[in-house]
Amino acid sequence: MEKMWSGRFAQDASSLLEKFNASILFDRKLYREDIEGSLAHAQMLTHQGILTSEELSSIEVGMQQVLGEIESGVFEWKIGDEDLHMAIEKRLTAVIGEAGKKLHTARSRNDQVAVDFRRYVLRKNREIMESIKAVMHVIVGIARDHTDTLLPGMTHLQHAQPINFGFHLLAYASMLKRDCERFESSFVRNNISPLGCAALAGTPHNIDRTMTAKILGFDSVSVNCLDTVSDRDFALEILFNISTLMMHISRLAEEIILWSSYEFRFVELSDAYSTGSSIMPQKKNPDVPELLRGKTGRVYGNLMGLLTVMKGLPLAYNKDTQEDKEGVFDSIETIEISLEILKEALKTMTIKPENMEKACKLGHLSATDLADYLVEHCKVPFREAHHITGRAVARAEALGIDLSDMEYAELHAIDTRIKKDVLAYLAIDHSMNARTSQGGTAQVRTLEQIIYFDSYLNAVE
Ligand code: ARG
Repeated sequence: MEKMWSGRFAQDASSLLEKFNASILFDRKLYREDIEGSLAHAQMLTHQGILTSEELSSIEVGMQQVLGEIESGVFEWKIGDEDLHMAIEKRLTAVIGEAGKKLHTARSRNDQVAVDFRRYVLRKNREIMESIKAVMHVIVGIARDHTDTLLPGMTHLQHAQPINFGFHLLAYASMLKRDCERFESSFVRNNISPLGCAALAGTPHNIDRTMTAKILGFDSVSVNCLDTVSDRDFALEILFNISTLMMHISRLAEEIILWSSYEFRFVELSDAYSTGSSIMPQKKNPDVPELLRGKTGRVYGNLMGLLTVMKGLPLAYNKDTQEDKEGVFDSIETIEISLEILKEALKTMTIKPENMEKACKLGHLSATDLADYLVEHCKVPFREAHHITGRAVARAEALGIDLSDMEYAELHAIDTRIKKDVLAYLAIDHSMNARTSQGGTAQVRTLEQIIYFDSYLNAVE
């Protein structure tokens, strides 16, 4: 097949090279961005007197046809065309003739791919933000129903202090909000037009980069052409943002897996989002959160892959850069379905407050409250209070009961400064509600956090 660049070549490209070199089988995903970029470029060339308005109309009509062919599936994607840029331009020229050949004036595939890919990534930044917010909405909704559902708060996966389930979920709402903000700030930083940088050095044609930037919805025009055609920071940013988001999702997934086990029984995934075993008829497996946890690996891999591709590349464009796309597409597809299924799995999950509350009677969750009581009411220095409480815990262990169920006489026997009012302080719900410091778990504080996330989610863009 004759190549657009074959003028200086005496021999045809080998079919092996065609196969190795081509990006068309994956970069065709960018067809919308490519056509929009070409139309903006043609409009600008016309405005600058480089194309005639007849040529522009014919490009516009031809591009509509090409777009239609792509969207209806009749467009032929041929490996010999190498990439979508050449395939689309070639088809346009076949449809409209001469004017098609003028489209590439003052442009290179280097700035063309930079525009297309950047706009695709920017669009996905926005879409992912919306999907994150949809998950946050579900999480905050569940939290709202469970601000007084007691749950053992843990450190080191050991029972630590009682919290409420809503508070626990809102920790994830906080993570997701930061994730959302990361996508937003990447969008703002990268919404800069590469179009008009041409191959690497700009162009002698009298182009208007601000005009194409405006048509394509960019905030401004890039400053240095050499940097622009080789920069893939915007792609690395979305890969990092997705990785961090996936890391958060994976942590929640891990908790859901634990909580669904017989050891916890805090939640039960709905049948629609659980799977069975081919051999053990009784099993109900949490494949969804397991896959969310597992897919985090490939998303990290995509980030490491592109960082490695970019490392050590001399300026400006190098073909290595063509390797930027598949990993980004894969991470985007992975996060899109992950957010969707996480949302559905959470929405349909049964919460079991009774089991959470039962678990609060294990591990002497109110031990810190006894120490705090000694500090506050008996003026005992905290270190000493800690020691006395340790003895109380040992006694409860010996009696085979939880500290919160200990009789007053037992406590008084450990230290006579302990008075009867201590019992109220040792109750699990009291312990949770006592943590009223800013950002704490007390129900009043949790309700404030819900208001905070509600207002974030309801804010008009
Ligand atoms: N298919 C190429 C890519 O994705 C487009 C840019 C090619 N530029 C070049 N000078 N060979 O990176």
